[in-house]
Amino acid sequence: MPNFQSLHVEPLQYPCTQGNTTFLWEAQNGREHLVYTTHNGHSFFIKRVVKGEKILVKGDKITRPSAVSYLQKALQDYQKATKAEAVYSNIYTQKNRHYRPSSLLKDLDFFAKELKDPREIWIEVGFGSGRHLLYQAQKNPNILHIGIEIHKPSIEQVIKRAEAEGLDNIYIVDYDARILMEFLPANKVGRIFVHFPIPWDKKPHRRVISKQFIEEALRVLKVDGTLELRTDSDLYYEYSLNLFTSLSQVRLHVNKNIDAPVSSKYEDRWRKMDKNIYDITLINSLHSKNKMVPKLLAFDKEVLLKKQKNAKELIRGDGWFVHIETWYEIKDGFLLKVALGAYDRPEHRYIIVKDNRASYFPNGIFSTKSNLAAHLALCEWMDG
Ligand SMILES: C[S@@+](CC[C@H](N)C(=O)[O-])C[C@H]1O[C@@H](n2cnc3c(N)ncnc32)[C@H](O)[C@@H]1O
Repeated sequence: MPNFQSLHVEPLQYPCTQGNTTFLWEAQNGREHLVYTTHNGHSFFIKRVVKGEKILVKGDKITRPSAVSYLQKALQDYQKATKAEAVYSNIYTQKNRHYRPSSLLKDLDFFAKELKDPREIWIEVGFGSGRHLLYQAQKNPNILHIGIEIHKPSIEQVIKRAEAEGLDNIYIVDYDARILMEFLPANKVGRIFVHFPIPWDKKPHRRVISKQFIEEALRVLKVDGTLELRTDSDLYYEYSLNLFTSLSQVRLHVNKNIDAPVSSKYEDRWRKMDKNIYDITLINSLHSKNKMVPKLLAFDKEVLLKKQKNAKELIRGDGWFVHIETWYEIKDGFLLKVALGAYDRPEHRYIIVKDNRASYFPNGIFSTKSNLAAHLALCEWMDG
């Protein structure tokens, strides 16, 4: 990710514009500063951290724009505006220069409001290098393929390849797959591929496959639609098989070391190491009811909360939590860094509190069951 280090950074007079980037204000917690930055219609934080004698300047992980090149250009403008002399920098690399906004990249709002496509949908969760996703999209032009990934360089790379190949039956989503599923209509999906998910053996709550994920998968799958897991991990295989067989009624196929139509980079690596590859296919038998599409949550009242520097807070409920992780000082208010929602798929956001008004940043959270409970608890806590 683009970043530079400098021994000195001149303070900015806010607001200030350099090139195509505007810097509006900054927040501070000790040695860490967050600069509210807008570039090409995107708002995000540039993070400045004092590390010994050096100052590290980079993008903030929670608010980072999907296009790495936007962050890169904003960092170049920030370096110029602050007259920082870099002792280390990778912000002029040519790697990210071709980024153009793409109509293939969709956000959650699109699925909440605009997805009216009559085509059957196939979903690939965590497509990585995209070999399988692109292969299926080429082979099945009448299907709408939705690729979900959280790794931004993979997203950019696959969008470029899909555009170069002229594919018009792919949407790419830069979001946690466990959350996106709640936005899809019931009985519309023919196949869900989960190929080589991260095993998370030490943090199983981070696994993509979970009881809730399977429930959502069964809801969106058509009758006879399939959820297809492919893994090289013995533990993940056993864990998933246990979850699938704990359903009250289930149709499953299990295969071992069967060739797939296309082999991913991961698969090539495991095959060379002679690892076993397992496939579990869950076949849906049920016709599901549609449910309300989650809506964006907002703070609609004045916030009475007063500044409590560095106070951390953990509020827990049944299946949800709110963790106030960091307080930052800003002019006319403060900024909170929070994690909230379900334990197995938390949302990470900032909350900007200015002039007694609060808003989520960089975007709101959607009213999934756990998010709604967490948001209401947060509102109550803010009311003191
Ligand atoms: C081990 S890689 C496998 C990539 C690809 N499926 C393959 O077979 O080569 C796992 C991928 O899942 C993505 N991923 C992990 N958790 C995810 C989540 N909750 N939602 C979407 N993608 C996720 C990771 O970024 C990574 O690219």
